[in-house]
Amino acid sequence: MITLGIDIGTSSVKSALLGEDDRVIASVSRPLSVSRPQPGFSEQDPQHWWQAVCDGLDELQAHHGKELAQVQAIGLSGQMHGATLLDAEGAVLRPCILWNDSRSAPQCEQLTRDWPPLHGVTGNLAMPGFTAPKLMWVAEHEPQLFNRVAKVLLPKAYVRWRLCGDYVEDMSDASGTLWLDVGRRDWSDAALAASGMRREQMPRLVEGNAVSGQLSAALTKRWGFSRPPLIAGGAGDNAAGAVGLGALHAGDAFVSLGTSGVLWATTAAFAPAPQSAVHAFCHALPGTWHQMGVLLSAAACLAWWSSITGMDEAALLHEIDPNTQAASCWFAPYLNGERTPHNDAAVRGGFVGIENGCTRADMTLALLEGVAYAMRDAKQAVAGAGTVLTQADLIGGGARSPLWSQLMADVLNIPLHQVAESDIGCALGAARLAQLASGLSLDQLRKPERLHTFEPRAERAVLHAQRHRQWQALYPKLSAFAHA
Ligand code: XUL
Repeated sequence: MITLGIDIGTSSVKSALLGEDDRVIASVSRPLSVSRPQPGFSEQDPQHWWQAVCDGLDELQAHHGKELAQVQAIGLSGQMHGATLLDAEGAVLRPCILWNDSRSAPQCEQLTRDWPPLHGVTGNLAMPGFTAPKLMWVAEHEPQLFNRVAKVLLPKAYVRWRLCGDYVEDMSDASGTLWLDVGRRDWSDAALAASGMRREQMPRLVEGNAVSGQLSAALTKRWGFSRPPLIAGGAGDNAAGAVGLGALHAGDAFVSLGTSGVLWATTAAFAPAPQSAVHAFCHALPGTWHQMGVLLSAAACLAWWSSITGMDEAALLHEIDPNTQAASCWFAPYLNGERTPHNDAAVRGGFVGIENGCTRADMTLALLEGVAYAMRDAKQAVAGAGTVLTQADLIGGGARSPLWSQLMADVLNIPLHQVAESDIGCALGAARLAQLASGLSLDQLRKPERLHTFEPRAERAVLHAQRHRQWQALYPKLSAFAHA
């Protein structure tokens, strides 16, 4: 069967056509930008996602129309947590407040104080990126608009609604709202009420591999499908990435170097550990869960540095001598605050220890190290939550760099596997959920090929363990400075 996966990322919308032989027929990508109207704010216009989806599908139709026509099912993946607010007529009320927006820290404190069952029911800390505190912020700062909210949709649920006219969300993405009873896999009326919301404002819930709807007749015609494709529940981007990798069983793990950084571990059961800011969410398949540590800025740091230096990312990486043992300065990657392990919306990043001889290449290497050290923090937090990683796959745009991948293996001190098609991993996972929704059984699901394993180099691992401890001294100082 041919399926289509669409991933609504933060920096792009990617679509991948997956063929009969389980090979990627084609993939397309359309860039997105983020608007930051005030410090700590991070927003996107939902119309831009939709336009990017349409442009991508138009391109697929132009170049692979024959295969596109045969698509049996579509799967969706999306950046998590974003609050897309619709009124009763389906009009978008304001720009979507994204997963890396930190404005709602005071509302997180309020929710934690006023509703003690929060950690027990949702399994997670209230963190500003999550959806519930954002709605509390809107209620406080935009009360007239809040009163008109008829539906709250995560980014891919908005796109689904444009595709098929139904309001539906999957369990993995819904886990990041703080409105889901994650253990029971259902909306929690008490959690909703704690932030002034009601169940009828939520989309219907399905599992990621279930059918959530069918493409509308008008769009079926527009893109020349021979019959209306089914639309699978899909998954939040990280769970979609996990499905793409076949990370479905306890012990499976991956590291994602996307705009955000993620250290993912599939768990045997719902395993909450809110105190360490480790996320405990539903996986995209029934009866499965996972833990993850999340860095708010991973490849985002390199993208920022590229915009500052005016050099493209590949050129910046190329300047680094691969034999350099370690950078001569330090970088803290907290461009938007941090989630795991600090849950600190106010902290900001920086280069530290710069001296006269410091070159741009040193600073780029310090940046790569800083993200890797933050990932080591996340690995330790996940270990504290009961899951010790011994190896992991590597996905996301950052995984394209062998230098960064090797550094990450040295710093985490575990083997990291480079996999085929890793930069479209979430779209592929979405396409695989579409395969499952149209009848493929789990044991028929193909895992991507492992191309290479980055083994940790013993000497570098020792060096970085020691440098990581030194680097860890930065956070308390930067946090105190930000909170002063
Ligand atoms: C996960 C998270 C990010 C976004 C990025 O909790 O906020 O990984 O999903 O797309």
